[in-house]
Amino acid sequence: MSLFSRILLGLCLTILLWLMHSTAGREGSTCVRSPKCRSPRVPWGHPPRHLCVHNDLCRCSHTTLDCSSHHGNLTYVPYVEGSFSILNFSNNNLVQISRRDFFVNMSRDVQVVDLYNNDLVHIVQGVFNLLPKLEWLLLGGNRLSFKDVFKMNFQAPVQTLDVKCMGYREISPPNDVNLTRSDITFLRMDWNSIESLDMAAFSVTPTLSDLYIRDSKVYNLTTVLMPHLLGFNLGRNRLFDFPETCSGTNDSLFPELVTLILDFNMISCIDHVCLPKVEILDLSYNFFEYILSGTFSAKHFPYLKQILLGQMRTKILDIEAHAFNHSALETLDLGKNTLDFSSPVVDDDAFAGCMGLLHLHLSFNNFENVSEARFSRLFRILTKLIRLDISNSMVKFVYSDTFANFTDLRQLYLYRNALTYIPDGVFDGMQNLTFLHMESNRIQTISQLTFGESAAKRFQMLNLGGNPFQCNCDILWFKQWLESRPHIFNHRDPYVCANRPHVNLQDFVLNEQACLLGSDAASFTIAVTCVLLSFLLLFVIAFRFRWRMRLWLYEACRGRPRDRRRQLLAEGRCFRYDMFVSYAIEDVAWVQQELRPVLEGEWGLKLCIHQRDFVPGKHIVDNISDCVSDSERVVLVFSPHFARSEWCQFELKYCQVDVMERDDVMVLVELRETPSRDMTGAMLAVLQITTYIEWEDGHDARQSFWARLRSALDD
Ligand SMILES: *[C@@H]1O[C@H](CO)[C@@H](O)[C@H](O)[C@H]1NC(C)=O
Ligand SMILES: *[C@@H]1O[C@H](CO)[C@@H](O)[C@H](O)[C@H]1NC(C)=O
Ligand SMILES: *[C@@H]1O[C@H](CO)[C@@H](O)[C@H](O)[C@H]1NC(C)=O
Ligand SMILES: *[C@@H]1O[C@H](CO)[C@@H](O)[C@H](O)[C@H]1NC(C)=O
Ligand SMILES: *[C@@H]1O[C@H](CO)[C@@H](O)[C@H](O)[C@H]1NC(C)=O
Ligand SMILES: *[C@@H]1O[C@H](CO)[C@@H](O)[C@H](O)[C@H]1NC(C)=O
Ligand SMILES: *[C@@H]1O[C@H](CO)[C@@H](O)[C@H](O)[C@H]1NC(C)=O
Ligand SMILES: *[C@@H]1O[C@H](CO)[C@@H](O)[C@H](O)[C@H]1NC(C)=O
Ligand SMILES: *[C@@H]1O[C@H](CO)[C@@H](O)[C@H](O)[C@H]1NC(C)=O
Ligand SMILES: *[C@@H]1O[C@H](CO)[C@@H](O)[C@H](O)[C@H]1NC(C)=O
Repeated sequence: MSLFSRILLGLCLTILLWLMHSTAGREGSTCVRSPKCRSPRVPWGHPPRHLCVHNDLCRCSHTTLDCSSHHGNLTYVPYVEGSFSILNFSNNNLVQISRRDFFVNMSRDVQVVDLYNNDLVHIVQGVFNLLPKLEWLLLGGNRLSFKDVFKMNFQAPVQTLDVKCMGYREISPPNDVNLTRSDITFLRMDWNSIESLDMAAFSVTPTLSDLYIRDSKVYNLTTVLMPHLLGFNLGRNRLFDFPETCSGTNDSLFPELVTLILDFNMISCIDHVCLPKVEILDLSYNFFEYILSGTFSAKHFPYLKQILLGQMRTKILDIEAHAFNHSALETLDLGKNTLDFSSPVVDDDAFAGCMGLLHLHLSFNNFENVSEARFSRLFRILTKLIRLDISNSMVKFVYSDTFANFTDLRQLYLYRNALTYIPDGVFDGMQNLTFLHMESNRIQTISQLTFGESAAKRFQMLNLGGNPFQCNCDILWFKQWLESRPHIFNHRDPYVCANRPHVNLQDFVLNEQACLLGSDAASFTIAVTCVLLSFLLLFVIAFRFRWRMRLWLYEACRGRPRDRRRQLLAEGRCFRYDMFVSYAIEDVAWVQQELRPVLEGEWGLKLCIHQRDFVPGKHIVDNISDCVSDSERVVLVFSPHFARSEWCQFELKYCQVDVMERDDVMVLVELRETPSRDMTGAMLAVLQITTYIEWEDGHDARQSFWARLRSALDD
């Protein structure tokens, strides 16, 4: 914003405020009508209830003599027996106090005198000397000038003087030598119309430690050395500039000042300050657009602990890196600024250097698009935080380690945001978290895992109301918790079921058995499905590798010693053929096309096949007998044809007789399945002592067949 537009804006606001003030009330008596100008309530005073004994002009309680309001028009203090600490003489039409013994009827113990709103124009000097314990004098709402007040010569130990609503326009140093200095420590001058304030005027109260000038129109402030001032409240005025705090030699004008309240002014920057002891600085509702690097650093405010920058009247345009570079800073309020924390307006290192921060208030800002990484970058060093307020800020997500480093956090405010989900166990690591406010978000369910057992036990206050809970089996655990520890849950925001109109979570009933069964049935179904699937898988694998498995089984079951060939060779016996093949004539095609090519072609064995090798002219029985005895092995090709063929049966029987003494000679091949009723007795007998190898179509089946045959022949 340009300087010109800033001045224009300031001017507009000044006019607006002036209009407001002039309608609120003018001077003296008119000021009384403003409801804000009532006498303050004295902390130890109880409102009087009874008319005092023998006196119907005032009311009494054991601490207060109340001669105010209803019994107005009083011009003297009536005598009432008893010892009172408070005299309330407000709202009478006492225009002047001219008698020095005005308070002679009052008990000497009185500590508070309220003369508020009496249209007083004159008080005789030394009138308060009769009240040796007077501490607190309320003179507001009268028509006494600043000089009139301090001409009164308070010899009593008046500490607090309240002169609000006096219509003062200007406070300037009195040049009246007759003014007496007083030991007042607390001066309240709120609700005046002071525009120009020269603090040299307070030379009459050299021991002043607290000065309140709120709700005036101060824009021209002249500061002087205030050696004892501890608290200075200039809120709700029209200051454009931060008060001058340095003397010409750069010494502080407020060497002891601890609290400086400047809220609701028009200050936009801080240039050069000498505030060596200030701990609390309230600058909320001012015009700060830029918070420059180091503005609130230890160099400028060595003892600063609290800085309030909430609700600026203008949009903050930049918070620079290290703006709050102050390791002793404890409280920072940036609330109600609609700051977009995802934008570069807030520097990544804006909070760098204030690692001692305990309280951080960021409500009513904008966290809509703040990523996890950005959040961590901004706040990762604030590991000492005790209280964090990010309410009303459109927070969408918290991540499982968002608060991982905030181990000391005790109070967390996340209400009125856009959270839809709380990650499981996100608060479990925060050992000290006892206050958690997450009401009015969009959270639909809370499960047993959301809050770990120890975290759940820690809470003293947990507000989750106003969320659109889905009332179903999942929420039952939370409902039970809600009912078992009602005192930790705030019920101001109702816990309602979003999926059941007009039903509160507390009233929501659901059969727990049904929920339990529901979950059991689900797990049972899953288990059964798993078992079935595994069986299916096993079956598929078994089917796929069935031939290989048969081969293994075959080899495993036979388990006979494989030294027969060696034994025979050792015996020196020689055979003409490796193998005699006995088969039915119908199966010749198989023998020629399948068996012979492999056994003779690939394995290099010599077969005896009767069509080829039987000697013509020789009797068939001799041929068979020669062939069998000249072959090392006999392969029988079983099939229904084999069972019907007489010659095959003969060959089988011959072999049985001839080769019985030669162990392990016969190899059975089942070419086609033969029903046992078709089998002859000889076939069944052979089958009982010899495992057979069946032929089937298919690549794997054939592989397995040849391998088993090979294995049988190798024996
Ligand atoms: C005196 O009485 C008025 C009401 O008449 C009350 O508002 C005021 O607070 C009282 N003052 C004190 C000091 O209690
Ligand atoms: C006070 O005096 C005025 C006239 O002087 C009278 O009108 C008013 O009623 C009186 N108030 C009380 C409370 O007696
Ligand atoms: C003291 O009280 C009496 C009776 O209430 C009254 O007549 C007298 O005027 C009072 N004295 C003063 C100085 O007010
Ligand atoms: C100052 O006080 C003296 C007496 O104490 C008096 O004679 C004189 O008029 C006063 N001066 C003013 C300006 O009030
Ligand atoms: C501000 O106050 C000082 C001292 O009281 C005075 O000299 C000066 O004229 C005032 N300035 C304005 C602009 O009123
Ligand atoms: C006071 O301090 C300011 C800023 O630190 C400096 O510019 C100025 O020269 C100093 N004045 C004196 C008198 O030391
Ligand atoms: C932050 O403050 C420390 C101590 O006051 C100082 O040494 C350091 O230079 C400051 N850093 C920045 C970037 O201002
Ligand atoms: C956040 O991001 C969304 C999508 O990019 C955008 O529509 C929205 O305006 C952004 N909000 C803010 C405050 O930047
Ligand atoms: C927590 O602190 C560690 C060490 O300082 C850091 O590496 C980590 O990124 C921080 N985690 C978060 C979520 O800020
Ligand atoms: C919890 O707070 C106590 C002080 O109240 C502190 O001593 C302790 O270290 C804190 N625990 C953790 C885990 O920070």
